[in-house]
Amino acid sequence: MSDLEFRTVKSSQTTLKELMVPSYANFGGKVHGGVLLSLMDKIAYTCAASHARRYCVTASIDSVDFINPVEVGELLTLYASVNYVGRSSMEIGIKIVSEDFHNGVVKPTNTCYFTMVAVDEETRKPVPVPGLILEDDQEIKRFLEGMMRRRLKLSHREEMRQARAALDIGCELHRLEGQNCQLKHRR
Ligand SMILES: CC(C)(COP(=O)(O)OP(=O)(O)OC[C@H]1O[C@@H](n2cnc3c(N)ncnc32)[C@H](O)[C@@H]1OP(=O)(O)O)[C@@H](O)C(=O)NCCC(=O)NCCS
Repeated sequence: MSDLEFRTVKSSQTTLKELMVPSYANFGGKVHGGVLLSLMDKIAYTCAASHARRYCVTASIDSVDFINPVEVGELLTLYASVNYVGRSSMEIGIKIVSEDFHNGVVKPTNTCYFTMVAVDEETRKPVPVPGLILEDDQEIKRFLEGMMRRRLKLSHREEMRQARAALDIGCELHRLEGQNCQLKHRR
């Protein structure tokens, strides 16, 4: 393989800043989670397409944890980096912090992982993406963690598939005891 088929993590690292305006607020006065998701999707695409230099689609979003609420008037900064690359997929790690100008407080808001897949624009079929050049321990750690998440996700999916196939409601009713539900219908 030639060097051209590998790119550094830094070459596609992306930062996005956005001021939280009143139209982003929900009834409680905080910024909608959906606004944050939309910004995350935007930066994940930019980062993935910069690495792949191809059109990409969002295949999945994992572990979106909202750590702190975001207030109108705060400045949001999103950081995105390619953590792991498979054949056509890329795991993009995203971190968001929000900054309150009045008191200078910077707080973590979100972390999450997007899986983006490079596809051919006409056929929409997945296409190979360049590999990653890992330049320090943190990049190696992130790549290994990305591999782990991919493996765990696949085994979790298979476990769920088997559990659903084996689910027999008649035999499982006793599990509902003590749960926050009422049975209106008994088989
Ligand atoms: C994502 C998509 C291209 C995958 O196509 P596919 O025919 O299933 O392709 P494959 O099974 O060969 O998978 C291709 C890659 O995607 C990965 N992938 C597919 N589905 C995935 C999922 N749900 N989560 C994580 N990775 C996924 C595979 O692991 C594989 O990775 P690799 O090439 O690095 O080994 C296809 O499902 C698709 O187009 N989905 C719709 C995307 C979309 O519309 N997004 C929202 C708007 S952008």
